[in-house]
Order: sequence, then structure tokens, then C-alpha cells
Amino acid sequence: MDHFLYRDGVLHAEDVPLTEIARHVGTPAYVYSAATLLRHFKLFDDALAWGPHLVCYAVKAASNVAILKLLGDAGAGMDVVSEGEYRRARAAGVPGDRIVFSGIGKTETEMRHVLAGGVRQINLESEPEMRLLSRIATEMGVTVPVTVRVNPDVDAKTHEKIATGKSENKFGIPIAKARAVYAEIATLPGLRVVGIDVHIGSQLVDLDPFRQAYRKVADLTEALRADGHSIERLDLGGGLGIPYARSNLAPPVPQEYGQVIQEEVGHLGCEIEIEPGRLIAGNAGILMTQTIFIKEGEGRDFLIVDAAMNDLIRPAMYGAHHDIVPVIEPAPGAEQQPYDIVGPVCESGDTFAKGRHMPQVGSGDLIAFRSAGAYGSVMASEYNSRPLVPEVLVQGDHYAVIRARPTFDEMISRDTIPEWLD
Ligand code: LLP
Repeated sequence: MDHFLYRDGVLHAEDVPLTEIARHVGTPAYVYSAATLLRHFKLFDDALAWGPHLVCYAVKAASNVAILKLLGDAGAGMDVVSEGEYRRARAAGVPGDRIVFSGIGKTETEMRHVLAGGVRQINLESEPEMRLLSRIATEMGVTVPVTVRVNPDVDAKTHEKIATGKSENKFGIPIAKARAVYAEIATLPGLRVVGIDVHIGSQLVDLDPFRQAYRKVADLTEALRADGHSIERLDLGGGLGIPYARSNLAPPVPQEYGQVIQEEVGHLGCEIEIEPGRLIAGNAGILMTQTIFIKEGEGRDFLIVDAAMNDLIRPAMYGAHHDIVPVIEPAPGAEQQPYDIVGPVCESGDTFAKGRHMPQVGSGDLIAFRSAGAYGSVMASEYNSRPLVPEVLVQGDHYAVIRARPTFDEMISRDTIPEWLD
């Protein structure tokens, strides 16, 4: 459930009509609902209430500092994959001991930064990485809690670009090699093994791949304990999917996911960490846009809107579906017609939907792309020199711009002309 509902004929974000936000902020604009973000975080927190746990929000899904502060103040930890994300989490007031640092290519500079600032654990993904971290931690005179991300060779049954748990994917250490890797870590100064990490992919709509992966992690926990390692935490990654199309069957909910975790690893007495991103932020955000023109094509009508692939790349990149709805509620039983919904960018890939049935739309009408809160704004670019989309956070009946739309001058003034061209 989210908090984007029609009320008095207008789509609202909580208690605020989107028409009001469009008037003050313009379009395109991302709009987030604080109540939805908090509700989704709490669903995970409750789903793991059977034991010690920390829900570490995957910052990459939606990384605005205001969103991080909202979730951090509610008790969330954070999963970060770069110095930039770490800095955002700290700027939002999240203490280092609630921040997990993941990612396959952490640089020396990034390691130094998080070691100096404080970190809950670093999830290691390769042997060269663990040797480098050991050297840096030793030089800095600290001991850093670590896990190893294992690759369980499980098919996540999701889009190939976001599956990460098969042996052909670049992530983690093959689970068969894990005992040897942990044995080496035990000899390295500056590192202290605290657990195991796994993440098999994103937008999983079936619990079975999670179950398979977690079963392998449970077996590995016992093997590593027998080898003398202290496995006290299990970081089980993110990945639970969301319903993008209202017409589809809904994926499993956090409660069911929490139950699978309990069944597979609950007996081990470990603290559980999870790293959900999409399920917390996805349906907590929409991208609001305005129709520029309706163009009659051959056998189809194009709805040309003022958002484009640079603002929301998921349809172009993954063929992803987003429900698209008018902000002004259509009359009950209003006739529907098919549209190709496209942005102004100069390539045919800039298509949000083909033959999408919608009630008749006119130029100047506001429409909303639903489920755009995760991997929306964070993946935006300035392609075609379109300034980054602003972000707005709604809570109850108030709202605030949490990232302003840059002016054209701000965008252009980042470039510099070398003196030899002057
Ligand atoms: N932990 C790790 C190590 C990850 O790599 C990811 C996502 C997550 C947690 C969060 O997964 P989630 O709960 O959000 O599924 N841009 C793509 C999604 C990429 C996901 C990358 N990793 C999209 O728009 O569908």
C-alpha cells in the first residue's frame, strides 16, 4: 500500500494534491511520501522481530539526505556502496556503527574514509580487496569488522542486468572457496571476521531463490564455526520485489520473507542484517510530468511528456513497466485509448510505454509515473542538457523541496573553457 490516492478528483501524495506541487515546483518532479517510506521500513523491521536484527536501507535506491534522515531517525541502518553514499548517510546523522559498506570495487581512498569515520562492517568481495583492507587498517591502527560476500550460484529468476547470485556474475567469492578465504582472513592483521554476506539480485518476486541461498549460508555458517571462526552476523542482502503493475499478482510481502529467513537461518543465533532498497522506496515515490503535445502518428497517438529517459531510465534500460496515471481522476467508466508515451530526448529508446491504455489526455495535463521512488532520481542524468529533476518530500499535509531543480546557469557553469581556447 502507498499513500498516492485520488481524493476529491485529484491524485494526492498523502494530504497534498499533486496539482499544488506542480504549481510550486513545476514538472518533471519526483514526489515521495514519508508515510510510505516509514511504513515499508517498519514492515521489514517487524518481519525480523523474532530475533536481533538491523534493517540497513540500500542507499542506492533513493539517496536524498532527507530520505536517509527520515529512515535513519526511525532506527534504520544503511547499506552504502561508495564514499559518496557513506557521506550522505553521515550527513543525514546516521552513526558509523549503523553503516555497512558493500561493493566490489572499493578504492583505497574510500576504505580510509570509512575507517576514519567509523563503520559497522565492511563486506569483502575479493582476495585482493581483503589484503588491501588489512594493510590500510593496520596502518591506521584499527581493527575492522568484516564479512565475506559469498556467491551461492543461485538463479534469482529476475532481469539479467540485476541478477547477482550466479557464478557468472561479478559479485562475491564462490561459496565453494569460502572456507579457504576465511582461513586467510584469520591470518590477516586489522580484520575481524563477524559474519557472512550474500545478495543474489533485485526485484525478486519468488521466495524460493532466497530460501536456496540462505540454506547454503546456513551450511556455511556451521562449517566456518567448526573451522573456529566467529560467525555472529548474517547480512542477507536486499532484493525483495514490488508490484509495478497493479494488474499483476503481488509479490511476497516482507512478513513472508522474514519467515523464510527465520526458517532457514533462525536456529543459528546470529544477528540478521538485510539491505532492502526497492521495497522501501519504490512505491513511496512518483515521477510527475506534464503532457507537452499529443501527436497523431500512423496507427498510433504519441503522448509527448516533459519527462524523458534521462529522468527515469528504467523503461529504456530494463524494459521496465511503470503504471502511468492522470493526476486529475478520470470520470468513472471513461473511455480508454492506447498511447505511445514518449519523452523529448532524441532517440527512440526514449519511450516509457507503447500502446498503453489511458483515458483521453490533453496537452498540459499532469500525469504520474508510479513506483518511481527507487532507482528513479538516483539514475537520472543531464543527457540532452536537461537539468536534473527536483525532488519533493511530502509528510501529512506539508511538503518540502528536498532537492531544487538546478538552473541552466548552474548546469552550464560547471563546465570550464581551457585558456588555450579563449
Ligand atoms: N544490497 C546490494 C549489495 C545490492 O547490490 C542491492 C541492489 C541492494 C542491496 C538493494 O536491492 P533492492 O532491495 O533494491 O532490490 N537499477 C536497477 C536495480 C539495481 C539493484 C542493484 N543492487 C533497477 O532499476 O531495477
